[in-house]
Amino acid sequence: MEREKKLYLKTFGCQMNDADSSKIKNLLGSMNVSSTSNPKEADIILLNTCSIRWKAEHKVYSELGRFKNIKKTRPHVIIGVGGCVAQQEGEEMFKKVPHLDLVFGTSNVNRLPEMIKKVERERCHVEETEFFDRPEPLVYPAPEEDGMRAYVNVIRGCDNFCTYCIVPYVRGREASRPAEEIIEEVKILVEQGVKEITLLGQNVNSYGRDLSDGIDFPKLLRQVAGVGGVVRLRFTTSHPKDLSDELIAVFGELPNLCSHLHLPVQSGSDKVLSFMRRDYTAKGYLDKVEKLRKMRSDIALTTDLIVGFPGEEDDDFKKTLELMNEVQYDAAFSFKYSVRPGTAAAKMKDSVTEEEKKERLKILQDLQMEHGNIKNGQEVGKVHPVLVEGESKKGDGMFMGRTSGNKVVNFKGSEEIKSMIVPVKIINSSANALFGEYQLIH
Ligand code: SAH
Ligand code: SF4
Ligand code: F3S
Repeated sequence: MEREKKLYLKTFGCQMNDADSSKIKNLLGSMNVSSTSNPKEADIILLNTCSIRWKAEHKVYSELGRFKNIKKTRPHVIIGVGGCVAQQEGEEMFKKVPHLDLVFGTSNVNRLPEMIKKVERERCHVEETEFFDRPEPLVYPAPEEDGMRAYVNVIRGCDNFCTYCIVPYVRGREASRPAEEIIEEVKILVEQGVKEITLLGQNVNSYGRDLSDGIDFPKLLRQVAGVGGVVRLRFTTSHPKDLSDELIAVFGELPNLCSHLHLPVQSGSDKVLSFMRRDYTAKGYLDKVEKLRKMRSDIALTTDLIVGFPGEEDDDFKKTLELMNEVQYDAAFSFKYSVRPGTAAAKMKDSVTEEEKKERLKILQDLQMEHGNIKNGQEVGKVHPVLVEGESKKGDGMFMGRTSGNKVVNFKGSEEIKSMIVPVKIINSSANALFGEYQLIH
């Protein structure tokens, strides 16, 4: 038998990449490859990359630079790049990074074992970034490292072409996986001990549009929620324009569907939203928020926001702050607009200066901090069911887990309650986390 090889895999970007990395580990695991966190002892070094913003893309090149010496001293090491930068750049990457062996696209993860064998055999550059019409055939992902939560891809790609966004170019057209395949995967994950399933897609609301059997996302949610052992169900991401009344109604129907929705708004100005080609207005968005809160009064809402989009004036930015005040998000990810090659917005004049972008981002993040403090403060005194993920990373003996609203709770716990759902009374809060006391059940 071949000797065991070591894989160093670093993942950047969103949950799609996290899910693909689980798949990669699973695929290579069956080739007698095990993981290591030390690139110096690895035989295979892979970066699963993100190109959503300029910074993310450039991080990849500086990471790759670090591996040049490894390749010099241990030439048998295979260095590969996958994910969205690989998809965007293709063969060009070999010119920029000569010590690179392998480039695989976002549709080519299943081909990785073959590609690695080819590099071993022929010691040549190997590149595959071709898109396929259908999602890749099923590969059962190993559960996330913590063993109790797992992502399940339901739809690949995106057809929305928001003017700032590179995703449709690097993930291809929308393609849904058949429901039976998804259900089969969920059943296997539950058997492996997974308690929380997150259904994934750039816009899950489009699920089923390309299938002929009449299935749509609300129907899929009901089916997955009905699989025995799915204690918690989440999904991400939902485009506001496609958040239907029926999907909102599902929050009233399914008790195991968690009380959290990530609903990226991007801007509160109708003018900017139309420049972004988002296809909703601030009012339309707020109406949906109101309906959601009627359906699930405790629903936590999180969002993504971009500041400094071309044409965003002070007045537009103020409208974003107004919308934030209206909604009071539990948490928000906010970014300075970053020009992406090939997108429609790349042709617009980047009219907001770096200084203004910085200033707006700071104002927005300060406001979000206030809202985070208010929202989390409202949890104090309540008892929440918490899925215990394990010891907190700080190493202070505290444990951490998440509420149904996806809020992190730190509390004194013990190893026996790991991966259980236990009641925790919230006694304190900050803008980003809750602190609680585990309520012993007698
Ligand atoms: N599919 C999801 C989001 C995918 S990208 C959705 O439609 O909401 C995650 C977030 O990155 C986006 O919501 C947006 O806020 C941000 N983003 C995308 N492209 C960007 C760019 N060019 N500059 C800055 N932020 C960007
Ligand atoms: Fe990008 Fe828009 Fe698609 Fe989201 S919906 S991935 S922001 S193009
Ligand atoms: Fe990044 Fe690709 Fe996700 S660009 S955000 S890793 S889909």
